[in-house]
Amino acid sequence: MTDRMIDRTPVPEVAGVIIPWFTPANRPTEDRLQETAGLVEALGCDLAFLRAEHVRKVNSSVLLSGGILDRLAEDLRANSCTMAVIDGDLTPVQQRNLERALEVKVIDRTGLILEIFGLRARTKEGRLQVELARLLYERSRLVRTWTHLERQRGGGGFLSGPGESQLEADRRMLDDKILRLRRDLDDVKRTRAVQRAGRRRSGKPVIALVGYTNAGKSTLFNTLSGADVFARDMPFATLDPTIRRFDLPTLGEAALIDTVGFITDLPTHLVNSFQATLEEAMQADLLVHVRDRSSPADLDQAEDVMIVLEQLEEQTGLPLPPMIEAWNKADRLPAERAEALAYAARSSEETPAVLVSALTGAGLDELVELIEAMLLKGASEIALQLGAQDGRARAWLHRNGEVLSEQTQEDGAVIVTARLTHDRLGQFYSEFPEFRPS
Ligand code: GTP
Repeated sequence: MTDRMIDRTPVPEVAGVIIPWFTPANRPTEDRLQETAGLVEALGCDLAFLRAEHVRKVNSSVLLSGGILDRLAEDLRANSCTMAVIDGDLTPVQQRNLERALEVKVIDRTGLILEIFGLRARTKEGRLQVELARLLYERSRLVRTWTHLERQRGGGGFLSGPGESQLEADRRMLDDKILRLRRDLDDVKRTRAVQRAGRRRSGKPVIALVGYTNAGKSTLFNTLSGADVFARDMPFATLDPTIRRFDLPTLGEAALIDTVGFITDLPTHLVNSFQATLEEAMQADLLVHVRDRSSPADLDQAEDVMIVLEQLEEQTGLPLPPMIEAWNKADRLPAERAEALAYAARSSEETPAVLVSALTGAGLDELVELIEAMLLKGASEIALQLGAQDGRARAWLHRNGEVLSEQTQEDGAVIVTARLTHDRLGQFYSEFPEFRPS
């Protein structure tokens, strides 16, 4: 298996890239071409050529039809390429046959994304998740090879055919490794759950940024939290969930989470192995869906993000938190379009939205206001009579809620009305049970 993976040597690979398409519906757009170029470059490869190819007649052993394959072989040779990327799905057999025919390394879309994930993961959790994704990918390919061999044998009545015991052994070895990794990840999950419970107890609202890769999550994260997170024009710069403190004008301290970017055709087992990270987002008080409104693929990307989130909802059994959208990269829009979008954002009824530029800071005050308004929505208003001895409770309300009014009575007592989120209201009553309504 590892022979198919790319050597991490300092000499860059030179890659020739084909995006196969089969029906007009999946003909790649200019944006998809750019995305693929970005993925290949993210891997540190030199891009020799990239083109979409219409495969009219699929050759099941190599996927590509004869003419396309010949041209590809020729161009790879002419450009001294060391690798061919087929931005689609290859079966293991197709991959091997292509490698033989083209005499270079061949990887498909999943392999490409996995390689980038491997380069990007920085924390222990990130590395565990990538490793798990890689093993699941290898295992799924083992199974497919297996089926293929079984078919070749034609069910001739043998219980063990040639190579079968080796495949069994490979499969068992992968299963063992997968099991160990899942256990390690469970430990990480437990630690996270403890940390999450701590954050809940402290009552700080949690806001998670989600979105398509390169939408600008890390840039927004940095601008909002003043943190210096790796924001680069490359896919999957953020693989590990990053949590930072973020101060809201009224509610005060909150936790802001940056998450892994989503991508079209992200294989399900990749989503599965990043579940621990994404669960963090699923348990936030608010999701901010960051969209690159300057990208022509924005609508499709937004749809893909929603599909992944809905899958997560199903897998985790957790309902999606309330969501707003940050329509990013406003600075790249022509003035007229920006104006129209700003208007559309304000009147958006389904998901509240704000047009922003994480880069220039435009619209961020409005975004923060919307975040607060959403967190406070569904919040309760309480009115309490506080005496001189209740200084701590009064300070707590100021720190954790929005104090709407304070009226001092003749006897020196103060009537305080405050707005608190549900979470905080519960905390208030557990901290100051004397105020709990009987
Ligand atoms: P992943 O880590 O892949 O999920 O990406 P991300 O969503 O975190 O995107 P990131 O913040 O790394 O930004 C991607 C690229 O877009 C970088 O080159 C940013 O400088 C750029 N970018 C982000 N926000 C804006 C913006 O408001 N305007 C412009 N012009 N560029 C932006």
